[in-house]
Amino acid sequence: MNDQPSGFHAEVTRRIYEAQHREISADPETFRRIVGQYDGTTFGIDPDWFKGKTALDAGCGNIGAMIRKLHSLGVAQIVGCDIGEGWIEPLSANLTDLECRVDLLHGDVLALPFENESFDFVSVNGVLVQLETMGHVRRGFAEGARVTKHGGYYFTSYGPCGGVMQGVIMPALREHYRRDAEFKMLIDTIRPDTIDAVVDKVVADARAHAGQSLDGDFLKSLFGWDYCVFLRNFIQCPTCWTNECTPAVVESWYEEEGFGEVRRLETYCVRSDIRKFFAPLHYDRYHWMSRILYGEGYVQYIGRKP
Ligand SMILES: C[S@@+](CC[C@H](N)C(=O)[O-])C[C@H]1O[C@@H](n2cnc3c(N)ncnc32)[C@H](O)[C@@H]1O
Repeated sequence: MNDQPSGFHAEVTRRIYEAQHREISADPETFRRIVGQYDGTTFGIDPDWFKGKTALDAGCGNIGAMIRKLHSLGVAQIVGCDIGEGWIEPLSANLTDLECRVDLLHGDVLALPFENESFDFVSVNGVLVQLETMGHVRRGFAEGARVTKHGGYYFTSYGPCGGVMQGVIMPALREHYRRDAEFKMLIDTIRPDTIDAVVDKVVADARAHAGQSLDGDFLKSLFGWDYCVFLRNFIQCPTCWTNECTPAVVESWYEEEGFGEVRRLETYCVRSDIRKFFAPLHYDRYHWMSRILYGEGYVQYIGRKP
């Protein structure tokens, strides 16, 4: 297993997410959705359990959604870590209204700068799948497990796994992004205006060539900032191990690290763009069309260290 701390790879990933997170923060609707993504969830734990506890959000990024969620559950002290330091000031500025203690610092998930059993609740959310190799993914998982206190909970999230969408289309898009300069430029710069201009062309040409009247405003309403960020999120990342992090693999890691009460968590992703038509199938893991489109479905787990 490769257990060297992350280097250049993590810095590249960080730069990509820093740019994405800046755009998310600049668009109020997208920011609200991302910050609100944990509304209603208590990660399958009695909400009273969180009161007065300590928590770590490893690979926290710039938005602070998980930190806000943990604060709302009554956690007394939250540490957020990520690669580098450029994200610390903007995130601190976003969190000034929180009443609990929040410490933000540089911390590599492959070598977390904390003693064993430091935190009651540890979250590693959407981070492990971005690491350079599957050896790193396993090592990062072990690091989160190491810093979880006995009696504490360890939440990890990996994203959608397999099916036509993640198993076929997304890897093909990532490959095309690496090979085709024009496609890369499109994804790197895509914004709602880009899509609106294409819709205008399609509506005008359909009218001119076929006398058809397409509803351009409706089409535009299906693609906003949130959709553009989603495309970048899944296509720009240099590595993405979502298809390898199957439920069976993740469950085996919790078991190997000695965790009990291991449960797979479910979340309905509320969307306002074109993905709202797919969200029900994304959520229901057993429908035949869900299996075809989304394979194993969204993979996220919680376990308790005995
Ligand atoms: C998809 S974002 C998720 C951010 C946040 N956890 C969330 O759910 O919004 C992935 C994050 O992992 C961070 N990351 C990548 N490699 C890392 C590493 N080796 N150690 C710590 N963080 C890392 C990136 O900088 C980025 O902020």
